Amino acid sequence: MRLIDADIRALVEADRVHRKVYVDEEIFQLEMQRVWKRAWVFVGHESQVKEAGSFISTTIGTEPVVMVRDKSNEIHVIYNRCGHKGAKVTNKPCGKTPMFRCPYHGWSYNLDGTLNVTPHKVGYEDTGFDKSDTRFHMGKVARVENYRGFVFASQIKEGVNLEEFLGDAKATIDNVLDRAPTGQIEIVGQALLYMHDCNWKMFIENLNDGVHPMVTHASVGDACRKLLGQLPEGASPPPEAEIVFPFGSSYEFFDDMGVSVMPYGHSYMGGQSSIHQDYSDVEGYRDKMVARHGEEKTQQVLAQNRHNTTIYPSFTIKDAIQAIRVARPIAVNKTLVETWHFRLIGAPDALLHRTITYSRLINSPASMVGPDDWNCYARMQEALKSSSNDWVDLHRYLGREEIREGDVTRARGTSDLSMRNQYQAWLTYMASGNCDE
Ligand SMILES: [Fe+2]
Repeated sequence: MRLIDADIRALVEADRVHRKVYVDEEIFQLEMQRVWKRAWVFVGHESQVKEAGSFISTTIGTEPVVMVRDKSNEIHVIYNRCGHKGAKVTNKPCGKTPMFRCPYHGWSYNLDGTLNVTPHKVGYEDTGFDKSDTRFHMGKVARVENYRGFVFASQIKEGVNLEEFLGDAKATIDNVLDRAPTGQIEIVGQALLYMHDCNWKMFIENLNDGVHPMVTHASVGDACRKLLGQLPEGASPPPEAEIVFPFGSSYEFFDDMGVSVMPYGHSYMGGQSSIHQDYSDVEGYRDKMVARHGEEKTQQVLAQNRHNTTIYPSFTIKDAIQAIRVARPIAVNKTLVETWHFRLIGAPDALLHRTITYSRLINSPASMVGPDDWNCYARMQEALKSSSNDWVDLHRYLGREEIREGDVTRARGTSDLSMRNQYQAWLTYMASGNCDE
């Protein structure tokens, strides 16, 4: 069946979405063409390719790509596909190389993807083959832009620029850089990987779902309360407690955090308050911040508490914890979630250690929190195959948005507003004609 725009529009209503958006193979393939080609999708951070020839390989949607720095310091994002027979040129997640060489017939490529050498040239004369023709290169992704070190790419030639796309989400990235005493950050190590048996949208939607922790993560709250009850009189809770305890917070706490949405499907929870607001001070950090910013700005920078700024469709970043999470769709029912950690250059290492501890306790497949969410996504993925009810509900606080400030709309934290906002963006991408650009 070939879907027409009317078929797509029929899947999204103001207060519900059709189950097909999560389970239908054809919808998934169309998303790769329309959402993941059109949007600005996070590729990597420039600190991952510090030197000429440094590269990482990753994906945009389901398309394999390489991000690489060339000898003139320019960062390129090129398709990880040989211009000859189409083999994936590099299988390494990262590395350093003077050139890329396909293992099949040995075609080699410069760091900008242009074809360098084809071995055994005999036989190509007078055939129409032209080495300078970009069809024989590792092709360049249409647009690549960098916002303060975060590299995004879009696979279409025309569209809004990255800054306009990010909108108020830029303030989260700005805050992350302001939290570094040198104004610089760097990615540390490789990603923590967590394969999810679900559609990519379930993970992205959950990041600003403030109404699930009290149920999904109830066991965490119960364990925390039990532990507190067992502490000897006068004893302090263990340091991990300040990370884990907030997951047992009440509906009122998450409501008060609020949720804010913006164009292109982006959103975040919190702002002033969040589950990270009561972290203890790290010795020596504040002094370094005051030395850079002065007292007043330091206060402002550390008071910003955005929880899971979600840059639709793939990228999510916190400000008080130095981690980003990236959704990599694999199939309609399979999504790889990567958690990357970064160092605030010039800040005490204890801040990075707290972030790593956070990931171990919250984001890892062996953690106390992530598997709770994973379990619910997998159950949805399984039960949404049922035709007993075609619709997934989005009613909570519908029409009760409280504040509009420019492009940003805010509501209570347990509202379904961020999901309704994501589906408006999804429709704009999905129901606007063919995308063969
Ligand atoms: Fe959760």
